[in-house]
Amino acid sequence: MLTDSYGRTATDLRVSLTDRCNLRCSYCMPAEGLDWLPKPELLTDDELVRLLDLAVTQLGITEIRFTGGEPLLRRGLPGIVERVAAMRPRPGIAMTTNGIGLDRLAGPLQAAGLDRINVSLDTVSASTFVKLARRDRLADVLAGIAAAAAAGLAPVKVNAVLMRGVNDHEAAELLRFCLEHGYQLRFIEQMPLDAQHGWRRDEMVTAEEILAALSAEFVLDPGDEELRGSAPAETFLVNGGPQTVGIIASVTRPFCGSCDRIRLTADGQLRNCLFARSENDLRTPLRAGASDAELVAQWQSCIEAKLPGHGINDPGFLQPARPMSAIGG
Ligand code: 5AD
Ligand code: SF4
Repeated sequence: MLTDSYGRTATDLRVSLTDRCNLRCSYCMPAEGLDWLPKPELLTDDELVRLLDLAVTQLGITEIRFTGGEPLLRRGLPGIVERVAAMRPRPGIAMTTNGIGLDRLAGPLQAAGLDRINVSLDTVSASTFVKLARRDRLADVLAGIAAAAAAGLAPVKVNAVLMRGVNDHEAAELLRFCLEHGYQLRFIEQMPLDAQHGWRRDEMVTAEEILAALSAEFVLDPGDEELRGSAPAETFLVNGGPQTVGIIASVTRPFCGSCDRIRLTADGQLRNCLFARSENDLRTPLRAGASDAELVAQWQSCIEAKLPGHGINDPGFLQPARPMSAIGG
C-alpha cells in the first residue's frame, strides 16, 4: 500500500498521457503554447502499461484517471484503456478531457472500458470560449460532452474554472445549462499552476463568491459532509435536488488532509502532489531493466516524502516547475 507518513493512503493514480493540448486556456498555458516534451522522453504504451500493472497488482491503486495536456491527443488511447481494463483487480477507469474529439472517441473508449469522464467547460458562450481558451472550439466541446452522455459515460461531470473579468459572470448560466442536460457541474478554484505564473491570490474567484453568485438564482442545500470522504468537491443540492453542483475550494478550503492521489507524468516521473517540488524518476530505471521490486521501491520513496499540504497559502509558497498541462489534473 502507498501510505505516507501522515497516514494517508494513495489509491487514486492520475496519469498524464501527453503534455500537448489543442486549446490554450489562459489559466493553464500562454497563447504561444509550450515546448512539448520530446517524443523519446514519453513512456511508450508498453512501458506505461507495465507501470500501471505494478500499481494495480502490488501497490493498492484502485482508480486510474487519464489526463493530459489533452489525453484524447494520445494515439492508441482506446488500446491503453483496454489493457488497463483487463488488469485484475480491475481498477476504475476515468478520464479528464477538454472534450475535443470526444464526439468520435466516446463510443470506442466506453467499449474499451472507460467508466467515467470529466469534461472541462468554462463557458457556454462562444465568444467567451475564444477569449478564455484562445480557440473557437465550443461547438466541438459541446458535441463531445453530448456524445459521452449518449455513449453511457453518464453522469458526465463538467469542470469549470472562473476567471475574473472573463467568465466570472457566467456561473449561473453554466449551471442552468448543465441542469438542463443532466451534467454534473463542479467549479474549481483557480490554482497557481499556469506555465506563465500569472496567478494572483487576490484576483482568484473564490468558492465563497461562486456560492453567492449561484445563490442569487438557485436554492442550494449543503450535502452530507459525512458522504464527502476524500472527494474534493463540496456538493450542494440544487433547488431541492436531485441534481447537484460541486465546488472544489482547492485554495480557500484545502482538502490535502484526505488526499488519496498520486500522479505519473507522461515522461515517467512520479509526483506525490500537484504542487510537489520533486519527482521520482521511473523512466530511467524502467529503461535500464529494473526489476518490479526496484520500481516498487521508487513508488514507496515518493509517497514517503509527501508533505501534509500544498502550502499555497504560506508566504514562502513556490509554484512547481512543471505546469498543470505537464502534470495532469
Ligand atoms: N486551476 C484550477 N483548475 C485548473 N485546470 C487546469 N488548470 C487549472 C488551474 N490552474 C482544470 C482544467 C481541467 C482540470 C484538469 O483542471 O480545466 O478541468
Ligand atoms: Fe488544454 Fe486543459 Fe490546459 Fe485548457 S486547461 S489548455 S484544455 S490542458
